[in-house]
Amino acid sequence: MLDVSLGTRSYTIQFGSGNLSRIGSICKKLNLSGSSAVITNATIGALYGKSIIDSLAAVDISAECLIIPDGEQFKNSSTLNSIYDVLIERGLDRKSFLIALGGGVVGDITGFAAATYLRGIEFIQVPTSLLAQVDSSVGGKTGINHLKGKNLIGAFHQPRSVLVDISTLDTLPEREYLSGLAEVIKYGVVCDRDFFHFISERVDRLLDREQNTLLEVVSRSCAIKAGVVANDEREDGYRAVLNYGHTFAHAVERLTEYKRFLHGEAVAIGMVQACKLSEYKGYADSSDTKRLIDLLQQFGLPVDLPSFTVEAYLQAIRKDKKVNAGGINFVFNSGIGGSVIEAVADWDFLLSTIRAEVGK
Ligand code: NAD
Ligand code: GLY
Repeated sequence: MLDVSLGTRSYTIQFGSGNLSRIGSICKKLNLSGSSAVITNATIGALYGKSIIDSLAAVDISAECLIIPDGEQFKNSSTLNSIYDVLIERGLDRKSFLIALGGGVVGDITGFAAATYLRGIEFIQVPTSLLAQVDSSVGGKTGINHLKGKNLIGAFHQPRSVLVDISTLDTLPEREYLSGLAEVIKYGVVCDRDFFHFISERVDRLLDREQNTLLEVVSRSCAIKAGVVANDEREDGYRAVLNYGHTFAHAVERLTEYKRFLHGEAVAIGMVQACKLSEYKGYADSSDTKRLIDLLQQFGLPVDLPSFTVEAYLQAIRKDKKVNAGGINFVFNSGIGGSVIEAVADWDFLLSTIRAEVGK
């Protein structure tokens, strides 16, 4: 069990294997006794919905699954409206609460529905993808996409609790699983050198999804994220460290129209670019970049930039929502295990690694 310390909005993250049936007692302890809707998609609902509903029924909480379509393209206002419709039809009131059962898509949209329905109700995160277990379920960023860009509409709304069941990862498709590992490696690179070593020494066990190793990796990742969020809940400064690798990742995703790479795969590519820039700055050296590339490749993650012109990258980076008039707050790694966040207005510098690689 881990605490996310945010004063009156503090909550716990519980970790285990095969522990979904604990959800009822968790709700009881939190005095969540109103009716509930378990928001999920058809795949995850079929696998894990019944365990959740039965556990809630055992403590007299009435709940039904609310199925939304599977996929990032459905993290939008029309799915959100369809959620509101069902909540209103079912008569959920201000004492009701939502449960997000799924990956980051389900977690983000459920959190935003909870943040906005009846001016805000409680919700619980039950993340089932690796990315959701180590990142999106913790920290209270909720939201949906807009036609003009990803995650442009949203709110900070912390969950009342997070329940992580490592055994749900058994059914996660391999590519999704490996993609989630990129975000795990990110924590090692910018926050915790020992954790980076820990991962490097357990590649085979992680590839085998060995439960004890996963339990440790997921709980350590959450501990790192919880520490960052407790320090800077609303990303006024240090929380930006979690965006390491994301400047280039977002550009790669945009240029490939979100079709070629999963998010974690794009983050893997972006981290390599960020590490090379850290080298140029003198914050890291070539052996750090080599270790990062080696580790990513052992998990089959991509490390090479797709071939677009420097101009195309420039345009894509300029569209990032984190870019402002003065440039961008760029996250560099300091060796392995530390970070430096700096405003960079020099586009030529930002693009220098790309120029060196794609040469056009
Ligand atoms: P996702 O939610 O689309 O899940 C990936 C796929 O795996 C989906 O098809 C899903 O149905 C399936 N899946 C999930 N768990 C499964 C399981 N146990 N068994 C079988 N299939 C399973 O994608 P994701 O990678 O989990 O999350 C990506 C989303 O998270 C993006 O929308 C991103 O913007 C968001 N995100 C949010 C934050 C945050 O802080 N709020 C942080 C990072 C990412
Ligand atoms: N995933 C980035 C953040 O939560 O801030």
